[in-house]
Amino acid sequence: MITLALSKGRIFEETLPLLAAAGIEVTEDPEKSRKLILSTNRPDVRVVLVRATDVPTYVQHGGADIGVAGKDTLIEHSGSNGDHDGLYQPLDLNIAKCRMSVAVRADFDYATAVKQGSRIRVATKYTTIASEHFANKGVHVDLIKLYGSMELAPLIGVADAIVDLVSTGNTLKANHLVEVEEIMQISSRLVVNQASLKLKREAIRQLIQAFESAIPA
Ligand code: PRP
Repeated sequence: MITLALSKGRIFEETLPLLAAAGIEVTEDPEKSRKLILSTNRPDVRVVLVRATDVPTYVQHGGADIGVAGKDTLIEHSGSNGDHDGLYQPLDLNIAKCRMSVAVRADFDYATAVKQGSRIRVATKYTTIASEHFANKGVHVDLIKLYGSMELAPLIGVADAIVDLVSTGNTLKANHLVEVEEIMQISSRLVVNQASLKLKREAIRQLIQAFESAIPA
């Protein structure tokens, strides 16, 4: 049995064509049921639905053999060097693409605020990425860890800036925030449990190969 960990939403939707290339079809719709273990047309493959941030944890602990997780999630899980903690990252799947950016209120002077040696208050869910980014610029950062709705923090004076994912930019626009710096491009990667890679070598090798053949340009 091969267990694949996915999160609901964009990653799930954009992984379906990759699974199809491997001859795998998920036979249940996660939007229509509360089930956490989904069967597929293949008796030897199942999908487990977990929170996006939990995908690396499940794969690392062998609860799933493979998983799909965003670069953001992987960096926050294991640091920017990746590839440790029993997690192997063989493929960038080029799906669920967006960017990690810094955004501020339109009336905030970001250029002055990030002069070397200055101090800035940053609200984010992505504390590893944010602290590395500002450390590289030589800017002291007071990090405020939030779990969602980060756009609110600069609006009510809790932070000067946010570090968040931007896709269309609509969320920023709706909250009168402007993107002032792109930190990195984000896409989702395949992660594989290192023990599974040895014990289920052939099955996993075939999956990786099929996924690789179907990566969108
Ligand atoms: C992300 C991100 C922004 C939004 C950006 O949230 O945190 O809020 O998407 O997308 P846009 O640029 O297209 O408006 P997501 O919907 O993934 O949910 P989350 O708040 O749970 O992370």
